[in-house]
Amino acid sequence: MNPVRSVVRGPQCAVRGPRLGLGARAVPSSATVSTDLDDIARSFDRRAPNYRRNEWHRRSAERLVALTPLRAGDRVLDACTGTGFAALAAARAVGGEGHVDGVDISAGMLREAQASLDGSGLGNVELIQADASHLPQFSSSTFDAVTCATGLLYLPYARALREWHRLLTPHGIVAFSNMAAGYPRAAAIFRECAGALGIALADPTAPLGTASACRTALEETGFTVEKIVSEAIEFSDDDLRLAWESNFGSVAYAAARALPEPQQHALRSGFLAALEREPRESLRRAEMLYVVAHR
Ligand SMILES: C[S@@+](CC[C@H](N)C(=O)[O-])C[C@H]1O[C@@H](n2cnc3c(N)ncnc32)[C@H](O)[C@@H]1O
Repeated sequence: MNPVRSVVRGPQCAVRGPRLGLGARAVPSSATVSTDLDDIARSFDRRAPNYRRNEWHRRSAERLVALTPLRAGDRVLDACTGTGFAALAAARAVGGEGHVDGVDISAGMLREAQASLDGSGLGNVELIQADASHLPQFSSSTFDAVTCATGLLYLPYARALREWHRLLTPHGIVAFSNMAAGYPRAAAIFRECAGALGIALADPTAPLGTASACRTALEETGFTVEKIVSEAIEFSDDDLRLAWESNFGSVAYAAARALPEPQQHALRSGFLAALEREPRESLRRAEMLYVVAHR
């Protein structure tokens, strides 16, 4: 396990701008950052054109697949496939005899995935627009493995895990990744800055943000945990340059986008100034949990 700098907590954000007088309206802490699938799809449709510039997503999705014991010929469901990083890596791992179904709710993300797939030479991936927590089109015991890279936080996780349990063959593998609670640091600063304007945003990584929370969720669904690997992930300069866009555009932070324009400007300048004050090292590194279990 790589050493990870502990999350620095504390007031980082001095936002200049009128508070809204709403009190700090906490968005209820829940595994579901929004219950509205259209909302989630729209949010990722907006992020899709730039998503692949966030290089860390590719690295962490490929790392999840590398930690998943896939065999040649396996049939894999890649839930929340996004632009297809994990789906393509899994397709290479299972080879021509195997097959990957990549499921995502966002048509925009799937268009990006299709573009990657078209240039990949792979013929064993199908992309499907659907809710990954409810897949009645697939019969029980269809898949040898389900992968889900940094997607479970957007789903009602207990329902998704139950559905994947149904879809897996006996001893089938489920593998997912989730950032540890409090990471990435830029998102925590964004929430602090929103808090200074009277908007309390919950940390969307928190519900599955510890090894013990992941273990409990899996065991409650009937899975047996094989390993939980906690590793540092490093953000590039390009990733950090996208910090405003990714946080302000996040489906988890819709309340920030609902702010009147002057407060949005105050949030942006307060956030960017707080990022400047933060040690680069703390912005660059985050802790990722990779979880592998079997039915
Ligand atoms: C942070 S992205 C991760 C994408 C990809 N797995 C990766 O590692 O780059 C989360 C993805 O989950 C998808 N998503 C969110 N809720 C979903 C749902 N209920 N069903 C299917 N996909 C969903 C989003 O559209 C988005 O593409």
